[in-house]
Amino acid sequence: MIDGAGRILEKEVLLKEDILKLLSAEGEERKVLFTKASETKAKQVGKKVYYRGLVEFSNVCGKNCYYCGIRRDNKNLKRYNLGNKEILDAVKFAYDNRYASIVLQSGEIESPGFTDRIEELLREIKKISNNELGITISLGEQTKDVYRRWFDAGAHRYLLRIETSNPELYKKIHPGDGRHDFNRRIECLQSLKDIGYQTGTGVMIGLPFQTMNDIADDILFMRDFDIDMIGLGPYIEHKDTPLFQYRDKIMPPSERFSLTLKVIALLRIIMKDINIAAATAMQAIDPMGREKALMAGANVIMPNITPGKYRDSYKLYENKPCTDEEAEDCTNCLEARIHMTGDEIGYGERGDSKHYARRRGKGGTGG
Ligand code: 5AD
Ligand code: SF4
Ligand code: FES
Repeated sequence: MIDGAGRILEKEVLLKEDILKLLSAEGEERKVLFTKASETKAKQVGKKVYYRGLVEFSNVCGKNCYYCGIRRDNKNLKRYNLGNKEILDAVKFAYDNRYASIVLQSGEIESPGFTDRIEELLREIKKISNNELGITISLGEQTKDVYRRWFDAGAHRYLLRIETSNPELYKKIHPGDGRHDFNRRIECLQSLKDIGYQTGTGVMIGLPFQTMNDIADDILFMRDFDIDMIGLGPYIEHKDTPLFQYRDKIMPPSERFSLTLKVIALLRIIMKDINIAAATAMQAIDPMGREKALMAGANVIMPNITPGKYRDSYKLYENKPCTDEEAEDCTNCLEARIHMTGDEIGYGERGDSKHYARRRGKGGTGG
């Protein structure tokens, strides 16, 4: 390296060439990057981890993304759809255990019936939690009208990963059937922001055909779109998907993992006060994956609170952790794990994106 990581990190604004250099940092240089990210986290958002209890309430999906284990054409899994009572019981668990926020996630369905169902559920969740629970939804691409109805019903954060900021790569990892359009994804993100959601996005790291240049662009995309929250993780191959055929052409898992940590660290340094999730996919590669992500700058964890019997059917990728566990198991397990990182768990605190509050000129907790 011509300029050491320390010297680059002193700059006010990082250029793409700086980002590329930091993405390839190893050894001491890599440590310097993580130390700076950890300091930035402590200073900007505090050494606290906020929980979002994750309910993966249905694996029925109308889409066919080439990387995803629950894609429409995969017949090797049982499709499920939780009843409202099961969902509300899981939500109640989160509330009673002072998780303070939940995430509702499912495969992507666009239909009037689905819209109505979610709207009712959101109102119900507000009611049973005395309006206290933070609600994130992650339900894919929808019309602006649908996003607005769900916002009005009580959801205030939305996660929609861009998957990759390179439209050409996007085309390679999705079918060209008119239902997987990069521009629509961007329009959706813009609608979410316009409506007033705390808006989250993310990418997969280590996809087939992806280059370091793409990853540097992903970081710049998230900066320039001025997003509030990030959920990103390594790409992990799944045998029942079309991308599996390229499994010999991708980085080894340990490299994908290490690169993901560097991306997290860089985003913490560049975006400062955003929320960054320590994705479960990190733990599919490294048993301490999520803890390492926290130490590299992440400040949100999404404990799985889906009833145990369904978890095996929500495998977007292989090796997904916590599929034999129940919500109580994960609560106990995570407490011990987070303790090891030196962070504190923000029990009872919603932990809204400080970036959102600042962006909207509100200061304080936002949301
Ligand atoms: N590896 C890693 N992440 C995946 N996702 C889907 N399939 C995979 C995979 N094989 C991620 C996508 C999607 C999110 C819900 O899960 O980024 O947006
Ligand atoms: Fe469906 Fe999302 Fe999987 Fe694509 S990534 S197939 S939209 S669940
Ligand atoms: Fe689920 Fe450890 S977090 S078992």
